[in-house]
Amino acid sequence: MSQAPRQLKLGAFLMATGHHVAAWRHPDVPANAGLDFKHYKHLAQVAERARFDTLFVADSVAAATGDIASRMARSDHFEPLTLLSALSAVTEHIGLISTVTTSYNEPYHVARKFASLDHLSGGRAGWNLVTSDAAAEAQNFGRDEHIGHAERYSRAREFHRVVTGLWDSWADDAFTRDKASGQYYDPAKLHVLNHSGDHFKVKGPLNVARSPQGRPVIVQAGSSETGRELAAQTAEVVFTAQTSLANAQAFYSDLKGRLAKFGRTPDSLKIMPGVFVVVGETEALARQKFEAFQALVEPEVGVALLGRMLGNFDLSGYPLNGPLPELPLTDSGQQSRQKLLTELAGRENLSLAELGRKIAGGRGHYSLIGTPVQIADQLQEWFEQGAADGFNVLVPHLPGGLEDFADYIVPELQRRGLFRTEYEGSTLRENLGLEKSANQFV
Ligand SMILES: Cc1cc2nc3c(=O)[nH]c(=O)nc-3n(C[C@H](O)[C@H](O)[C@H](O)COP(=O)(O)O)c2cc1C
Repeated sequence: MSQAPRQLKLGAFLMATGHHVAAWRHPDVPANAGLDFKHYKHLAQVAERARFDTLFVADSVAAATGDIASRMARSDHFEPLTLLSALSAVTEHIGLISTVTTSYNEPYHVARKFASLDHLSGGRAGWNLVTSDAAAEAQNFGRDEHIGHAERYSRAREFHRVVTGLWDSWADDAFTRDKASGQYYDPAKLHVLNHSGDHFKVKGPLNVARSPQGRPVIVQAGSSETGRELAAQTAEVVFTAQTSLANAQAFYSDLKGRLAKFGRTPDSLKIMPGVFVVVGETEALARQKFEAFQALVEPEVGVALLGRMLGNFDLSGYPLNGPLPELPLTDSGQQSRQKLLTELAGRENLSLAELGRKIAGGRGHYSLIGTPVQIADQLQEWFEQGAADGFNVLVPHLPGGLEDFADYIVPELQRRGLFRTEYEGSTLRENLGLEKSANQFV
């Protein structure tokens, strides 16, 4: 039997007004997008029409505040699980991946909400399992200090075990709901978790039947050594920031190479680097489009974003035209992103303000600015040269940037046979080419 050709996977990474830090000030962008359901409904439908695999929403459980934060559109937005639940009712095929932190949550709540979303959407839910990278969250959850990096990962590992255990509480056919006999569920098909560990004590079972996908898809975004180990053991999709083909290839082969020791095949984990895309009919027009956003970046805003991405550092006391100061390894933020941005500053010899400006759009993700053909060439190269199974797409502004990607890049990828023209299945797992998860207790 001939195998279908391998095709790339696409995620639409939605962020209120767009990923560019100054997008909200652009005349084409609705500044109130973060709390406008019609805006998100339109984005979801554009992405679904273009046959994207999934929507992807990031999160933080703290509002950005302060002088500089008051100049960015990052302080008010929908909570992602309720947003995606609402979007599940106005879409039919597209996956719904929500970021939910393991650092400031309880696994029972998380298992229940995702199982519920999986039922609501007919099997389209995915959980981006993160360890919070925003230090400010701690103070909203009874702590003065953020949980440290190693401890966050230790908690995340156990959190995952509990959530997946709860998702497997019931056999697929446990709920007989037989009116004639009066049996609502078969007690022999129930497993009570009785988990007791370092961080959690959870009896179970879950009060939601096993969901259409068995388990919602597990996504992860940590790329440090500890993050990679956890991903290799537990993730089915990894979202990562990579700055060059060579770095992306090294990450891809490193992570895929770790799977065998957990009894997994390379195909069971899809690696989707983020890619920031600005498209125009000509390269000059694409650059012009990008520059219209860059012109709106205040240097202090770029540097504040940089400080946050480097791992929650306040860089406001350093000269804008000076070099990036030497910083200790972040314990509260993303170690992988800190490394990436520090290397970028060194490689290109950038001042603080220049680096802030450079990442104002894609926050360090690979950036492509050009024509549909130029952009498709790059995506194809990464896909075919062992750097990616697909991409999580970041656009500068919404809805325009996503409409551009759907109208210009997707058809070019389809013309090359690199992307689907119809959804393969009805669940996110089926579309991503992942197997339905077996129940560990049945
Ligand atoms: C591409 C990417 C996106 C991420 N998105 C989020 C997010 O939305 N919310 C969050 O709290 N953490 C987010 N994280 C942080 C990760 O969850 C990660 O567990 C943590 O920062 C440690 O990263 P490290 O393993 O690279 O040090 C993201 C990380 C990466 C690399």
